Amino acid sequence: GLKIATIGGGSSYTPELIEGFIKRYDELPVSEIWLVDIEEGQEKLNIVGNLAKRMIAKAGLPIDIHLTLDRAAALKDADFVTTQFRVGLLDARAKDERIPLKYGVLGQETNGPGGLFKGLRTIPVILDICKDMEELCPDAWLINFTNPAGMVTEAVLRYANIDKVVGLCNVPIGMEMAVAELLEVDHSRIRIDFAGLNHMVYGLDVYLDGVSVKDQVIKMVTALDDNSFVKNIHGFGWEPEFLKAINVIPCPYHNYYYKSREMFEKVKQEAEAEGTRAEVVQKLEKELFELYKDPNLDIKPPQLEKRGGAYYSDAAVRLISSIYNDKRDIQPVNTRNNGAIASIPDESAVEISCVITKDGPKPIAVGDLPVPVRGLVQQIKSFERVAAEAAVTGDRNLAVLALTINPLVASDTLAKQIVDDMLEAHKKYLPQF
Ligand code: NAD
Ligand code: G6P
Ligand code: MN
Ligand code: MN
Repeated sequence: GLKIATIGGGSSYTPELIEGFIKRYDELPVSEIWLVDIEEGQEKLNIVGNLAKRMIAKAGLPIDIHLTLDRAAALKDADFVTTQFRVGLLDARAKDERIPLKYGVLGQETNGPGGLFKGLRTIPVILDICKDMEELCPDAWLINFTNPAGMVTEAVLRYANIDKVVGLCNVPIGMEMAVAELLEVDHSRIRIDFAGLNHMVYGLDVYLDGVSVKDQVIKMVTALDDNSFVKNIHGFGWEPEFLKAINVIPCPYHNYYYKSREMFEKVKQEAEAEGTRAEVVQKLEKELFELYKDPNLDIKPPQLEKRGGAYYSDAAVRLISSIYNDKRDIQPVNTRNNGAIASIPDESAVEISCVITKDGPKPIAVGDLPVPVRGLVQQIKSFERVAAEAAVTGDRNLAVLALTINPLVASDTLAKQIVDDMLEAHKKYLPQF
């Protein structure tokens, strides 16, 4: 059977992932799942790991769950390595979300300064994991869920010696689910042609049973007074003029770019009223782990749906299954562009609909992106590249440059102030600076 190693196994999302492996066991014969964490996460690992064991026992499947702090033991001969870790845990995210607000800049997990600093903390760790993989499981696929997933995939493609990497996000599958709900049809009948970057992805066309329904969907989306369907973003409605003219389906994270002022005000007010999203999630996490401790619980509790990562297991396990079974179905993932989007370098990571084969995702070429979205996608790709280089080199100038070219900051002076403040706040997790 297959050996899976999951790094950041103490995540509250682990029951979601386990549920995915249980549901697809008939097509994906997993025999071992190794949940790896670090000392800081050991307590969480034990609680969620024991729930995972109860879930497997209830399903009556011959899958061994191992809980360990020994990453090498987990990676040894693994077939698939999935990553869902958070360097500095939610305390670090709370800083990412709070500090920028002081400067009148959006504080968010994966966008703007928060996204930069999450990348600076994460990239050295992922590159270290890649080094271990070269030695311990050179044939394994790395399925990276760790954010910022686009920047992290970019860094692996450019700075690691492994090619078998796929970055994964639940937003595209969530968009398909949301469209299915709007049209009141089963999601299996919906297909969206996705292209762009992680958290910067567009639906270029939408099909119901293979026939384009984009015009109808754009009309329906225009009528929504909250255009965001992920639990972590509370959006507004799109202006009909804007949506009709742009003529593609934006993702929830586009609220931060096309409603920058409104979203900044909203995020700031929410931070004052109930805490930043990280602080809200910290409370939720406490509740979840209390539930997970219950020795009678042997399923994924519905309360997990309050987190933003809905459909994570579906996205991850269907991807692994399609690689393993050479299914050649279409799934949106983060992969090497290879010319699929004309104005992005071949070797850069893009989030795009791909045919999933035993040799990995093959991106479906879209040519050039439509003119109205091309520029922003390029700008964010430049941000991700400069940020990844800053993470690898520990060059503060590059960190300042990355933030300056980020449209959510757009000031060298502000960028410098925010970088210095955040380098200090996160110094424990930024040894390269
Ligand atoms: P979390 O704060 O619970 O962290 C998960 C675990 O990672 C913790 O138990 C922690 O101890 C562990 N960890 C930290 N550093 C580690 C290291 N160096 N090695 C191994 N383990 C380490 O995080 P969470 O809220 O469960 O989210 C996990 C990750 O998944 C985050 O990076 C988050 O952004 C990401 N995520 C991605 C998507 C997506 O769409 N790609 C969706 C949801 C969450
Ligand atoms: C979405 C995004 C993830 C993000 C998550 C946050 O699902 O795709 O990349 O990490 O939401 O959810 P949370 O519950 O942690 O705020
Ligand atoms: Mn995501
Ligand atoms: Mn279905």
